[in-house]
Amino acid sequence: MRVPLIAGNWKMYKTSGEAARLVQDLAELVADLKDVKIVVCPPFTALKSVSVVIELDKPNFELGAQDVHWEEEGAYTGEISPTMLTELGVKYVIVGHSERRQYFGETDQNVNRKVKAVLGHGLAPIMCVGETLEQHEKGKSRDVVQGQVLAGLEGVAPEDAQRLIVAYEPIWAIGTGKTALPEDANDVIRLIRALVSAGLGQRAAQEIPILYGGSIKPDNIREFVREPEIDGALVGGASLEAESFASICRITAEVRAPAKP
Ligand code: PGA
Repeated sequence: MRVPLIAGNWKMYKTSGEAARLVQDLAELVADLKDVKIVVCPPFTALKSVSVVIELDKPNFELGAQDVHWEEEGAYTGEISPTMLTELGVKYVIVGHSERRQYFGETDQNVNRKVKAVLGHGLAPIMCVGETLEQHEKGKSRDVVQGQVLAGLEGVAPEDAQRLIVAYEPIWAIGTGKTALPEDANDVIRLIRALVSAGLGQRAAQEIPILYGGSIKPDNIREFVREPEIDGALVGGASLEAESFASICRITAEVRAPAKP
């Protein structure tokens, strides 16, 4: 069975000190939780302070970054390489978030380069895909997601595939308070799993977590993680506050806990 995963994307919120305090508060609230992987993705400037807390307290969560460059090093002002992240204890990297695609010109080709670089460094990419409101209203969600998944995974080595994570985030659901219907999200995620299976093998497709993202809150997480294909969530707004993020993790662990014999 796949272990559910909840990732918090803190976007451009929290200074280094604020992020360290948030992760400390969170650590206390989730200390007893089993059966759920928790990943926090602070801004680059807070990775160090958060990693220190994670290492000291050894709570059950791990560190992620929000983006990365695909080159090892070079004259790329403002960019961060995979090795710079691994040295700080980063294990996960969000790649191709719709805000990067929308506001910073991230293309499918660059998403693909980043996914390969992240995998090549032994890290786990959380590759984000999802359609706009217009595409959704025209009934094109599946086509758009299919295109993004195929482009993003082009040339990925099957032996790296078990570290892959995909997040389906309809753009119209991000930060809007609207969510996809859980059964619709489940259908799109089933399609993503079929594409991974065709490209990277059935075993990887069955093992990798595929998440839903977009306006997840403590009061709606249950209906999503109840769906058989949805292995957790990528959470923005509700991950910025320890209580709400901890409840999301707790509810997920409850819903997905392995059945007692
Ligand atoms: P949201 O953001 O939970 O605030 O909608 C999700 C995301 O951007 O990953």
